[in-house]
Amino acid sequence: MTLEFRPLAGRFVGEASPIDLRQVHDAATLSRIRAGMDEFGVLVFRDQPFTDQEQLDFAQRFDGTLHARTSAAVLAKNRFGNEALTDISNVNDQGEIMAGDDRRRMAGVSNRLWHTDASFQDPAGRYSLLSARVLPPVRADTEFADMRAAYDALDDETRASLEGLQVHHSIVHSRQVLGFEFSDEEQARLPGAVHPLVRVIPGSGRRSLYLASHAARIIDWPLPEGRLLLRDLMEHATQREFTYRHEWQPRDLVIWDNRATMHRARPFDDKAYRRELRRTTTLDLPLPATA
Ligand code: OGA
Ligand code: MN
Repeated sequence: MTLEFRPLAGRFVGEASPIDLRQVHDAATLSRIRAGMDEFGVLVFRDQPFTDQEQLDFAQRFDGTLHARTSAAVLAKNRFGNEALTDISNVNDQGEIMAGDDRRRMAGVSNRLWHTDASFQDPAGRYSLLSARVLPPVRADTEFADMRAAYDALDDETRASLEGLQVHHSIVHSRQVLGFEFSDEEQARLPGAVHPLVRVIPGSGRRSLYLASHAARIIDWPLPEGRLLLRDLMEHATQREFTYRHEWQPRDLVIWDNRATMHRARPFDDKAYRRELRRTTTLDLPLPATA
């Protein structure tokens, strides 16, 4: 049975035909999924009953090396003892819903800003695989934005003006915007990373705006002008026509290309209900030559 992708509401989200990714080991199916990622940018796989280890194994088969520094993980140990398994939840080490003033809430709360994973690192994140384990009885959606469509919609003059610009991404910046504070020592451990503002996605050859809440300044530009341009572009790229809102079902696995999309969590009553997902993200290393 061939794996197929059916476009969901947005043009950049595909829903996979029934498949059990735990059983997918063959190169042909794996490259079909990668081709689907290049075509869409976000793929939804229903009914994937992954254990943590099965998710880690699949992510590795899919794209090689896993990213182990995609959150402020350098600041607090994660409860799974494996930094490649990112805890996207509102529960603490004891499995209880976190208190409102728990600093570990920083990660979950900050995910409500539009971002792309690990852009404050080099290498950044390439694919993120997010698996829904425990969902609240209320909607707690994730929204996605197509940064290639956003780029394509810019006029020629604007596109030309962006060519060659480099952006400094910093997780300290994105968290400070929300009022979280960092010690000097923490800041020294989180220096951020510089990436081009316009990226070409190798598989499709399409250009994309590489933006995130972490985008703090444009290299060699005065701070205010840089931040104004970044804000303008964020505003442009997150217009309704470029976005899709994912309503989670139990056992969904959603894969997105961090080079081609942004995403954000939507708020819900996170002091009343548990929400637990696990993310594995791959390193954006140069792709191995494929046959
Ligand atoms: C993530 C993320 C958003 C959400 O897993 O990287 O940003 O809705 N998640 O949980
Ligand atoms: Mn994220």
